[in-house]
Amino acid sequence: MPLTPTSPPPPAPLSPAEFEASAARLATAEPEDSLRWTWERFGAHAAIGTSFQGAGIVILHLARELDLGFPAFTLDTGLIFPETLELKRRLEERLEITIETVEPEISVAEQARLHGEALWERDPDACCTLRKVAPLRRKLFELNGWITGLRREQSDARANVAVLELHDIEGAEGRRVAKINPLALWERARVWDYLRRHHLPWNPLHDRGYRSIGCRPCTRSFGENGAERAGRWTGFGKTECGIHTFTRRRSP
Ligand code: ADX
Ligand code: SF4
Repeated sequence: MPLTPTSPPPPAPLSPAEFEASAARLATAEPEDSLRWTWERFGAHAAIGTSFQGAGIVILHLARELDLGFPAFTLDTGLIFPETLELKRRLEERLEITIETVEPEISVAEQARLHGEALWERDPDACCTLRKVAPLRRKLFELNGWITGLRREQSDARANVAVLELHDIEGAEGRRVAKINPLALWERARVWDYLRRHHLPWNPLHDRGYRSIGCRPCTRSFGENGAERAGRWTGFGKTECGIHTFTRRRSP
């Protein structure tokens, strides 16, 4: 009987010692180097998560230029701007890639039926949990590495972001993925310089004063002088959607 081809087993998780050594080595690495390390260590078991802001576009482009075949995904809450969806289409065409759309388990209409209209106006944490955090959690179960566009300069809460971190999958005892933030040390100007130099498309909302772009109901235009993440959840004491909460810079 012919042997059935089987996929190679997924790479082993990082041991604490390997994590410490790699995190130290990559601490000030150029994005090309951290992406190459990720590819050598995890191959296509690491994926790029993007919301199509500047950093995400740089990473998608770098991976393509370096011929690193990371899969890419975006969490589509069902409430994102049409401009963002159009940018996804343009990037797929330009970079000749397919970006997977990861959706919440319930539609916006079902959410309204179960939790009332416009949950984001009453309880944005609950809304983000349903529409971003839970879908990401499901996606991370498939992966060993999660590549993000987090940058230190974006906010005080992100000031200590490291190039290599560990992310615990909430509620899954001991299950974690390596989190790679290749642009952790990049400033906004460097991201924009890269986009322009490589003639990459960006979200046209940036040209209309939107600094950071998420869902329609929770994103405001703040003009060019706003802080990096100004305009997100205005009026609430909220600065993060929650997808980055269970990340650590030390191994257990
Ligand atoms: S967040 O508050 O929405 O998490 P931000 O928009 O600044 O923050 O994004 C930071 C990083 O989180 C992005 O570079 C990306 O890697 C990841 N991320 C944020 N939103 C999404 C999304 N909708 N889909 C996939 N990844 C996302
Ligand atoms: Fe809901 Fe706003 Fe979070 Fe989007 S950003 S999931 S609309 S609370």
